[in-house]
Order: sequence, then structure tokens, then C-alpha cells
Amino acid sequence: MADTATTHTTGLHEWEEDVLQRYPEEGGHVFRDYAAEVRPSVKEFYRLNHSNQTLDFVLSMKAKYEPRNMREMGVWEAMEYLNTLVDDSDPDTDCTQIEHLMQTSESIRKDGHPRWMILTGLLHDLGKILCLFGEPQWAVVGDTFPVGCKYSDKVVWPEFFPLNPDYTKPELQTENGIYQPGCGLDNVHMSYGHDEYLYHVVKDYLPLSALYMIRYHSFYAWHREGEYGHLLNDQDRENLKWVKLFNGYDLYSKVDVRPDVQGLRPYYEELIAEFFPPVIRW
Ligand SMILES: [Fe+2]
Ligand SMILES: [Fe+2]
Repeated sequence: MADTATTHTTGLHEWEEDVLQRYPEEGGHVFRDYAAEVRPSVKEFYRLNHSNQTLDFVLSMKAKYEPRNMREMGVWEAMEYLNTLVDDSDPDTDCTQIEHLMQTSESIRKDGHPRWMILTGLLHDLGKILCLFGEPQWAVVGDTFPVGCKYSDKVVWPEFFPLNPDYTKPELQTENGIYQPGCGLDNVHMSYGHDEYLYHVVKDYLPLSALYMIRYHSFYAWHREGEYGHLLNDQDRENLKWVKLFNGYDLYSKVDVRPDVQGLRPYYEELIAEFFPPVIRW
């Protein structure tokens, strides 16, 4: 199932740089006037994201992708498939999708974390193949947030939420909205993206802590800002530490030396085979 075609996008990489600007490694909070310095393309990205991620949109994406009828392929094959995505805004000195995945997994490995977590680093962004299925970037990347209830003003660019049709539906704008207090994140619909998609692809194969890392790694309003406490259950509170631990590797593992992808391949093929069958449904 080798794909030779290349899909071009603009801005995937810009979104990741923007997250780093908001959460720099030292200290953890924006120290400058973020809004004044953000790139117009990033602002436009969030305008589209916040305008279009309605509860109905999320439900339609779940109906489309949860049956996992798009492809059948192995995990390594999915990594190579993702690598056909070329980010036009990404200067060629920056790393490819596979390189970002391996930098994340290699830094987790160096710190002596368990094998399931190394594998999680390797996998965590594979959901971005949604771009290759023709989905717009605002439905694939960007910070995620609960839909169907009041938006936290700690979600990036909250000033765009009034553009969302759900904003004018009072039943979707109370503190709990369509949810019960303490219902747990598993019962909350998050804005759709690569996190939620990949969670459903891998949920039968990895431990719960790994699934939290995958499903909520872009939910910055929770894991960095501490918002939405009223929706959490005990399981969410217990697993927050894993999501936080993972976020450090996701954001700060970029190093100047590129990983030797082919040299590391045998190690990772073995690791993948420890948890996954040769082919899974995407
Ligand atoms: Fe990601
Ligand atoms: Fe990532």
C-alpha cells in the first residue's frame, strides 16, 4: 500500500511552534504579549477551528472515523504514510513527521521510562493522517477543548468562540452544558482532531495511561491551565500526571541531531510488535 503521492499542507508546523511560544520550556507561561506576536496564519487557523468545531461537527467526525474503515496498515507503515505529508511552511532545516515522533520516543527512552511510554511517543501524532484523508487542518491539529458546554477563557483565542454556532445555544453554554458534573472526560466530546482519532485506532492495544497521553495531549486548557475540573472523575485526576509527563517530551524533545530513522527501525519494529498485530484498522 505504498503511497508515492505527496500531500502538501501549510501551517501544521506553525501550530506547533505557536504552542512552544505559549508554553516555553522555562517557567511554563507566556511572558510576552502573545497576541501581538502571533503569526496571522496561526490566528486565522484558530478562527476557523473555533468557528467550525461545533458539537454536531464533532459527532459527525466520530460517526465517520470510529468505524475505522479508511485503511488497514501496520504502525510502521502508518508512520511512512504520515511522512508523505509535507508542510510547506516548514523550513527544510526542521524535522519530518517521523523525526518528530522518534525524537519524542528517543527522549522518553533515554530517561528510562517503560516500553509502553516509548511506544506512545512514537505513535502519538499518527492521527495527523487525517490530513491525508482530506480533512482541513482545523479538524486535525490545534488545542482541543470540550464542546457542548461553556468554553473556558483559558482555551487559546477565546475571542473567536462567539463565531461558533453553538455559542448562541443557551443549553450548550452553561457550566456543565450537556454533561453531568464529574462525568469524566470519556463522556465529554472534545473538539475533533488527531488526538481523538488515534485514540480509537489504538485503544485496544495500549494501557490506559498511554491512551490518556494520546487522547488528551492537545487539551492544554486541562493539562497546562487546570480548567474543566467540574467534568473530571477520579480516573482523569489520576491520569493527569501521565498527560503532563508526556507533554514535556512532546514539546521539548527537539534536538539538533536528527534521529537515525533507518538505524533505529529494528528496535522500533520489535517494540511495535510487542503491542500490536502486524496490521490494524485505521
Ligand atoms: Fe499532537
Ligand atoms: Fe507531537
